[in-house]
Amino acid sequence: MSASPDGSTAATTPLLQVEAISCRFGGLLALDQVSLELAEGEIFGLIGPNGAGKTTLFNVISGLTTPSGGRCLWRGVPTAGLGPCGLNRLGIARTFQNLRLFESLSVRENVLVGLHHAARAPLLGALLGNGAFRRHQERLEARAMELLTLLELAALAEQRAGDLPYGDRRRLEIARALATAPRLLLLDEPAAGMNPAEKDDLRQLISRIRDHFALTVLIIEHHVPLMMRLCDRLAVLNFGERIALGSPAEVRTDPRVIEAYLGGSGGGSGGGQGSAAGEGR
Ligand SMILES: Nc1ncnc2c1ncn2[C@@H]1O[C@H](COP(=O)(O)OP(=O)(O)OP(=O)(O)O)[C@@H](O)[C@H]1O
Ligand SMILES: [Mg+2]
Repeated sequence: MSASPDGSTAATTPLLQVEAISCRFGGLLALDQVSLELAEGEIFGLIGPNGAGKTTLFNVISGLTTPSGGRCLWRGVPTAGLGPCGLNRLGIARTFQNLRLFESLSVRENVLVGLHHAARAPLLGALLGNGAFRRHQERLEARAMELLTLLELAALAEQRAGDLPYGDRRRLEIARALATAPRLLLLDEPAAGMNPAEKDDLRQLISRIRDHFALTVLIIEHHVPLMMRLCDRLAVLNFGERIALGSPAEVRTDPRVIEAYLGGSGGGSGGGQGSAAGEGR
């Protein structure tokens, strides 16, 4: 469904539509006509073995990679050509599989960078250092601390980001992505490197963030039990193809998914993520 002439959209228009996206790198078809739709407010999971095309799909959605075919629509409007900054202004923010923090800046400053990116400072005020500019700065500082509190990082605000343990750094990436006030948050393996207790905390945190900001979340994660508990719906990619889509219960019992994760031999070829069947614990 597309936007109406007055710019409003019907309540049923998905927040994001991915329509038959293909992505070719030389001879490799990393994505093969992948389609999915995200409804506003849902937590949608993307799983699949290593090299399945998950991060490539994130790169296409967030404007880092131009697809070879297909298109994405944001609230019914095609997003082609907007690029990462344009898509971020629309409301799409992401974290990266390989963390991209400013290691030498403090935790608080990392979030402030995101806030500055999203907020326009009064230019003349910035040059003169006047009251309006100071109030603007104070608002950003307060907002940064709100986000750090929500992500359970407030006590670490003045620590150097590069000195944080892995789990804290992953949460800081989420805080920085949230600083741009997105409507859709893309999380690429946010639980990587976390121990089981941290993973469980993260699952609860992502649910809390969704509720707090009324966000839509698209998450890639290899830890299938976490995904089965967290996600409203999931899609499964294998060799660039979407082989399953549905509720956790539907996906878990899908023969093609079991085949992709167990490789037919029961040997577990799914990148160490374990079987998709028998989850939900
Ligand atoms: N820029 C690129 N140039 C060439 N090949 C690429 C590029 N980006 C990704 N690929 C290839 O595309 C395929 C899909 O990669 P992608 O990173 O999307 O997989 P993934 O599902 O995120 O895997 P993982 O679970 O290991 O992160 C892989 O074979 C990868 O080597
Ligand atoms: Mg990846």
